Amino acid sequence: MSEANRKHLAEMREKALLGGGKERLEAQHKKGKLTARERLNLLLDDGSFKEVDMFVQHRATDFGLADQKYLGDGVVTGSGTINGRLVFVFSQDFTVFGGSLSGAHAAKICKIMDMALKVGAPVIGLNDSGGARIQEGVVSLGGYADIFLRNTLVSGVIPQISAVLGPCAGGAVYSPAITDFVFMVENTSYMFVTGPNVVKTVTHEEVTFEELGGAVTHATKSGVAHFACANEGIALEKIRTLLSYIPSNNMEDPPRLVPTDDPNRCDQELDSIVPDNPNKPYNIKDVITRVFDDGEFFEVQELYAGNIVVGFARLDGRPVGVIANQPAVLAGVLDIDSSLKGARFVRFCDAFNIPLVVFEDVPGFLPGTDQEWRGIIKHGAKLLYAFAEATVPKVTVITRKAYGGAYDVMNSKHIRGDFNFAWPSAEIAVMGPKGAVEIIFKKDIMRAEDREAAIEEKTREYREKFANPFIAAEYGYIDDVILPSETRPRLIHAMRVLENKVDTNPKRKHGNIPL
Ligand code: HXC
Repeated sequence: MSEANRKHLAEMREKALLGGGKERLEAQHKKGKLTARERLNLLLDDGSFKEVDMFVQHRATDFGLADQKYLGDGVVTGSGTINGRLVFVFSQDFTVFGGSLSGAHAAKICKIMDMALKVGAPVIGLNDSGGARIQEGVVSLGGYADIFLRNTLVSGVIPQISAVLGPCAGGAVYSPAITDFVFMVENTSYMFVTGPNVVKTVTHEEVTFEELGGAVTHATKSGVAHFACANEGIALEKIRTLLSYIPSNNMEDPPRLVPTDDPNRCDQELDSIVPDNPNKPYNIKDVITRVFDDGEFFEVQELYAGNIVVGFARLDGRPVGVIANQPAVLAGVLDIDSSLKGARFVRFCDAFNIPLVVFEDVPGFLPGTDQEWRGIIKHGAKLLYAFAEATVPKVTVITRKAYGGAYDVMNSKHIRGDFNFAWPSAEIAVMGPKGAVEIIFKKDIMRAEDREAAIEEKTREYREKFANPFIAAEYGYIDDVILPSETRPRLIHAMRVLENKVDTNPKRKHGNIPL
């Protein structure tokens, strides 16, 4: 190779690394944001990034674009490793046309997605873009659609993770929306279909970027974001942690770590964690951190629908997906938001061979016109559907209430729960004792001289009969009643038994989940 060739390559590379130029790179820092390449350096193992399409340029000529060309055209793409495992990445470069998506930019993203699908590795997209490249018109819109199609076709085959680290507006939001997990950063990222100016024109509402579509808004109100992070470094580190729980594709098992926690460890504190008074709350996260390996729990959607808790943990080194009613929030009731949150998480785990562990303490579905009119029937059905169709190992522990339809929904035996355990404090019934007594003993109570005493007596009778796990155990709907303290070893045993579980659903094009 001639020296001239070597020099030319070095110059081309240097030029590409500069993106939109020094000034724009500095402006990016002034906004409190990292550059596209700095982000990749933090995300990936040191020195592992291998770039492709560094020299791609757009081919547009309208609006003076023929004279404005930047190597890479606003997105850095390639592959690298995270904790030694292969991932594909794209990182939009806001310094080039505001990270806007041209036909060439879209083709680069599609190229790595196609490769990721072929080799079975996750795709991580770092989004920071002004949306469609306005000068390219329909070519840009077509580029988005090319990406949406791939997002959809690879869904459930390889994990897709989005970090929104700047603007993400208009139809562009639908690519992250289809992916499995969305990370956002407070105060520097936003997602909306239409921005504050359009909102003001159409609805006369005055709203800031952050209020309309910032990280906290989407993590608490809309549920679009699974993680709201204080800065980009935290977001990228969390993506690395998330990947440690999930396999690279739907044919692999999730990565097992060398266990560091005793599989036979019993926790006596658990025996007194559920209060004697059934109306008193307790924090289900205290149960979760006592049961799983090393007290570690990687919570997903922590700020949304707190009445259900979902996230990843490990049992004897093996990742599991945890879904738990939270008695400390709205008494753990199931409503629209918690059903959606739970259903999406269950379906992710099932798609990627991650066993499910359910902790159940649920008084039922939330009553009221608000819930009924907004469709608790169809949304609650999603959670039921998700559990019922899941074929991964499925284990349930009823810690206290399992009332009504919620008993069936929360991974009951009847919808293919593999091991269904109950603590002695479990109450399994059609409804809570008070409501039940007022219906079935209405006449006795009306006739009684002392109605309060009659209600109390009948409630005691009902509680003795139904508010315990033994009737369900008599029917075999509960496989065993276990001491809370022995939950960890029993779950680990169950997962060992189920390690080679094979279950299938009837052959079909796809089911029709009640959307
Ligand atoms: C081309 C764009 C661009 C775009 C920004 N730029 N957005 N170029 N197409 N969509 C360029 C700017 O001209 C500028 O170039 C540089 O990027 C930085 O932009 P600024 O406006 O200076 O940055 P900032 O003040 O931080 O504002 C960022 C912004 C704003 C809020 C994103 O640029 C903006 O509103 N852009 C337009 C957003 C938009 O309407 N996009 C189309 C949405 S519809 P120079 O040369 O000065 O550095 C859509 C449809 C997708 O995306 C449909 C999919 C189905």
